[in-house]
Amino acid sequence: MRMFGKAGKAAAIAAIAAVALTACGRSDSGTGGGSTAGGEAFPKNSSIGVALPQKTSENWVLAEKLFNDGLTSAGFKADVQFANGGVSEQQNQISAMVTKGAKVIIVGAIDGSQLGTQLKQAHDAGAVVIAYDRLVKNTDAVDYYVAYDNFKVGELQGQALLDGMKAKKASGPYNIELFAGSPDDANAKVFFDGAMKVLQPKIDDGTLKVVSGQKTFEQAVTQGWKAENAQKRMDTLMAGSYGSTTLDGVLSPNDTLARAIITSVKGAGKPVPVVTGQDSEVESVKSIMAGEQYSTINKDTRKLVEHAIEMVKGLQEGKKLEINDDKSYNNGVKTVPAYLLPPVIVTKENVKTAYVDDPVLGPITK
Ligand code: BGC
Repeated sequence: MRMFGKAGKAAAIAAIAAVALTACGRSDSGTGGGSTAGGEAFPKNSSIGVALPQKTSENWVLAEKLFNDGLTSAGFKADVQFANGGVSEQQNQISAMVTKGAKVIIVGAIDGSQLGTQLKQAHDAGAVVIAYDRLVKNTDAVDYYVAYDNFKVGELQGQALLDGMKAKKASGPYNIELFAGSPDDANAKVFFDGAMKVLQPKIDDGTLKVVSGQKTFEQAVTQGWKAENAQKRMDTLMAGSYGSTTLDGVLSPNDTLARAIITSVKGAGKPVPVVTGQDSEVESVKSIMAGEQYSTINKDTRKLVEHAIEMVKGLQEGKKLEINDDKSYNNGVKTVPAYLLPPVIVTKENVKTAYVDDPVLGPITK
């Protein structure tokens, strides 16, 4: 039931909403009124809350715009908030969404284990909770999870690191370093574990050598996903372990950190090693084309937001939602039914074809 079709621009919605009470001939009882037609779980003009984390990568900034535009054109009231101030700001935003009567709350958590109280409030008020991109932990007040397959992201990164180093030097041993994301983000460990599934056997058989000896997730983390933290750690690693030793590769969990790592290595006057990434950020895609960063991951934010909005529409229409993973995402309290999208690895080899449909990256990679 797509009332405004693809022409559903915010202005058009606002104009129609303004005359909704007096307009004639509108038969769609799910909009503009509060009454629900047969099977509808809640009125179509309901408020939908979207709690986004901090702007730690371009994907989140894009998600904000896409949620605002997509929810509005589907007829909902979009309440999209960033929590650049941190966890307590995000907690307050979710509480405010509940107070405003949000029927669905979509959450990209800063700290997935600190939202239990607010999500219980949401549930008690009858809202459906969807974890977006990042799982929320240790609460049963989460109904669905929608994300790219983040374990697969890690596996692709691990494999890309091996492939990239092999292309430069046919056989090992290879000297590498490992970076992980922010420990409060539930995804960070999933990415790392996925990568280590591929890398650990090669560390064990001596093909890979982590010269610093820092092999655990705890040693590899980057607080807040901040570039300066990754750069600082890389500076320390370069100074401590790579005086006369060649660094062949670095596992980086995303593009922002990849660029910080590359900056650090260059600053140390050393050749750029094979560095992985994720998110298809503009500067990293350019760097891949220029032969510097080795890889990124395409997790098209447009598709993820689109699917999340389809879920909201399904819920509004009282439909049963499609799930394609009902066993992988145990959050400590329950296994959260998930819909996962497939991530795609991008290197210089496929960079020209990977983004043909992307309005920003398409023209850059032509
Ligand atoms: C997202 C990544 C992103 C990171 C930092 C993660 O939860 O899945 O795509 O790079 O957050 O913003």
